[in-house]
Amino acid sequence: MPTSSSRKRGGIGGPHRVCAEVVESERLPGDHHRLLLRAPQIVEGAAPGQFIHIWCHPPTVIERPPSAALLRRPYSISGVRPPDGVEILFRVRGTGGMILSQTPENRPLDLIGPLGRGFRMPDSLRTAVIVAGGIGIAPVPFLVQTLTSRLVSARVLIGATCDRRLPYRVEREPGRPASLPGLATLGAEVEFVSEASDGKLVSQLLEARLDGLHSDTDEVMAIGPRAMLKRLAEVTEGRIRLQVSLEERMACGLGACRSCVVPAANDGGYRTVCRDGPVFYADEIDWERIGP
Ligand SMILES: Cc1cc2nc3c(=O)[nH]c(=O)nc-3n(C[C@H](O)[C@H](O)[C@H](O)COP(=O)(O)OP(=O)(O)OC[C@H]3O[C@@H](n4cnc5c(N)ncnc54)[C@H](O)[C@@H]3O)c2cc1C
Ligand code: FES
Repeated sequence: MPTSSSRKRGGIGGPHRVCAEVVESERLPGDHHRLLLRAPQIVEGAAPGQFIHIWCHPPTVIERPPSAALLRRPYSISGVRPPDGVEILFRVRGTGGMILSQTPENRPLDLIGPLGRGFRMPDSLRTAVIVAGGIGIAPVPFLVQTLTSRLVSARVLIGATCDRRLPYRVEREPGRPASLPGLATLGAEVEFVSEASDGKLVSQLLEARLDGLHSDTDEVMAIGPRAMLKRLAEVTEGRIRLQVSLEERMACGLGACRSCVVPAANDGGYRTVCRDGPVFYADEIDWERIGP
């Protein structure tokens, strides 16, 4: 994979294809898994919201691929640990995730990254409200770390169907909103709701806070299921800028095959999630045509 120093799209440099050693592999609650990979080339250029595209099988079989998990799988960069550590956090859903979760430490993985365009952080930004639903929590640690390092105040609102669906421990104290200490230690205010315990959606948490936000200095950054993103686009319209990280099934991950396109607002065309996104401003997307 040739590198492209000219393609500066939400990260510092272009993508690299690397053989990254698995340094740590950890099973987490709720069918989640964390991998720490050694990939200094990716650490160097990564921005929050970007992803890596992983060949789940051993690199040696890439020329004679097995029938399962034939395509690379996209995973958000969950954290970077300079000088060489890249972290991903994923829910084991199917074959690809299963193979990755069983890859032992010290084994290499073939991956491409950093890919796509991450969250924009304009100079005027003072407060970012991060809204994450379900496994949308994966890129949040990297996003919080980057925002706080730029002296932007980060408030994190997390939602899930129930407490057990999270990779983090939930702290519930009487009379106080639930929180996730594992995320709060990164320097953000964190509030958590689950449908099962609180009977609320995370979009309702945001709605209750919209009046306290300033449209010239504050933005909302959201990652999660399509229905959540659509609802956030409705409630923020005309009030505060919203960035959304979209997910689509991907083949090439490089903007070539167009299997991941979403309808664009204004020009009636389409944008690739892998290259033009995955992060877009909500007003760049045609929410009527995008589908469920
Ligand atoms: C830019 C991007 C970043 C992502 N980041 C993360 C992450 O940080 N952590 C994480 O757990 N998942 C993430 N995903 C989703 C992840 O890529 C899929 O869950 C994964 O490819 C499933 O592969 P599999 O072989 O385990 O399951 P499969 O057997 O391929 O699929 C299992 C289930 O997952 C669904 N699925 C498969 N691919 C996607 C996809 N691209 N988007 C949404 N649903 C999908 C399928 O419809 C099916 O229901 C991301 C997806 C994108 C596009
Ligand atoms: S996955 Fe090929 S263009 Fe996006």
